[in-house]
Amino acid sequence: MARKEAMSIPSENLPLHVAIIMDGNGRWAKERHLPRVEGHRRGVESVRQVIQSALSHQIKVLTLFAFSTDNWKRPQKEVSFLFDLFLNLLQTEVEGLHQQGVHLQVIGEITELEPKIQLAIQKAETLTANNTTLHLNLAINYSGRWDIVQACRKIARQVLDKTQDLESISEQSIARHLSLVGLPEPDLLIRTSGELRISNFLLWDLMYTELYFTETYWPDFRDEALLLALTDFARRQRRFGTIDA
Ligand code: FPP
Repeated sequence: MARKEAMSIPSENLPLHVAIIMDGNGRWAKERHLPRVEGHRRGVESVRQVIQSALSHQIKVLTLFAFSTDNWKRPQKEVSFLFDLFLNLLQTEVEGLHQQGVHLQVIGEITELEPKIQLAIQKAETLTANNTTLHLNLAINYSGRWDIVQACRKIARQVLDKTQDLESISEQSIARHLSLVGLPEPDLLIRTSGELRISNFLLWDLMYTELYFTETYWPDFRDEALLLALTDFARRQRRFGTIDA
């Protein structure tokens, strides 16, 4: 049913790029008297389904916030569980995603991750590099401020090397060094679980992004929930700082 209704949204009213802060795994588990990690386990199924929905709605870019630079503060056991899930996803799902034309990219400070995870990321990125149906960004060890800082460092290096003039630094040149370089900025940001915050996600890139908050916990966020968000987005009037014509 969701798919049929989605077809009634004119394609020009669908977002090209959807970004999602997947939140509420712990509360989903707590309400069911389950360990927090069960929420994460069930959250992986939502990740799978949302990727399939994005493909069926012909969304071009999907960016999922999976692990923030602040998530290291969680109990070590939970952090390990999350990285095991992530590694498992890379090892078991990438081939299928590749067959469907998904280009997978991980954004974030990858060099701080375990070597086996870095290797799996490298393999997945190389395998899928030429795919064009859906660009899937997984934000791992990512934060919006980290992204801006790493861009500043690269630009400062170019100025020191005299390959860039100080005066030529512009919004465009900064954007060229951010993680989402070459991709359209998110049209729609979804946050699940009722929290009304950006939480250090894509700070630079969200300038004109439409925000959508839902009470639904991430483990319950499936096809129908995405369709509700897309339908809401389709009704928005976007002005990008100008006025209605
Ligand atoms: C937020 O819920 C969720 C996370 C910090 C992790 C997101 C991870 C997944 C959805 C599963 C793994 C994903 C991949 C890509 C393998 P929370 O734990 O903060 O929930 P709470 O606010 O209710 O405690």
